[in-house]
Amino acid sequence: MTATFWPNAQHWSCEIPLHTPHPRLEIMAATGCVQLSDLATPIPDQEFLNLEYMDWKSGGDTNFAPIATADGELDCRGFWNGDNEHTDKDAIFTSNAEICPSIRRYVEAIGANFGRVRTIKLEPQNYDAAIRNFHRDDNNRFNPDTDGWVVRTWVELTDNPNSYMLLMDCGADGLPDPATEVRVPLHRGARFIVDTQRLWHVVVHNGAEPRYALITSVESGPVLDRWIRANLP
Ligand SMILES: [Fe+2]
Repeated sequence: MTATFWPNAQHWSCEIPLHTPHPRLEIMAATGCVQLSDLATPIPDQEFLNLEYMDWKSGGDTNFAPIATADGELDCRGFWNGDNEHTDKDAIFTSNAEICPSIRRYVEAIGANFGRVRTIKLEPQNYDAAIRNFHRDDNNRFNPDTDGWVVRTWVELTDNPNSYMLLMDCGADGLPDPATEVRVPLHRGARFIVDTQRLWHVVVHNGAEPRYALITSVESGPVLDRWIRANLP
């Protein structure tokens, strides 16, 4: 079976910086992804089902519930719209945060500077549909070169053992290199951290029901390094 789509050099992701002076974490250097231990205590369903979701398409047929944003408003836009050159850090909790106290505590317990925090609701999409949404993130726009590289961490909120996040590093041409493919499992409680500006990524969701996950932008540095090492399997 041949995929009907594959990104080429005209893909918008190819314009996103890959090599920059920002300090990165050694523990993420090899593959750009670290699998963490499964969450010990599941996030209660009502903490993600009862949030206010907004229609925002990214990586498929998606809706997002913003839990922390640049200004604390319920808003899915990036941190740098209009005149506002706000790095994806120093986020402020929204009204949704009151509905999900254990999510809020989880994010605060990381201890690192965090940016966008939101839950994603992703409708099912098979491999061929997902690959059309394969992309890299623009996580470090306006982030000063001397500040830590912003990466993203996930907690899977629903149980989707037949779904996975597809990751590929860039080849010499900047396009995804199939030789580097990694498939991250998406069972309930699965946790991982990904350099989504470095790696092409998308979720292949083979379920029949929407998949929910928590996504948090975090700044690389000694605090995040300690947190990762304390949460390895
Ligand atoms: Fe992304």
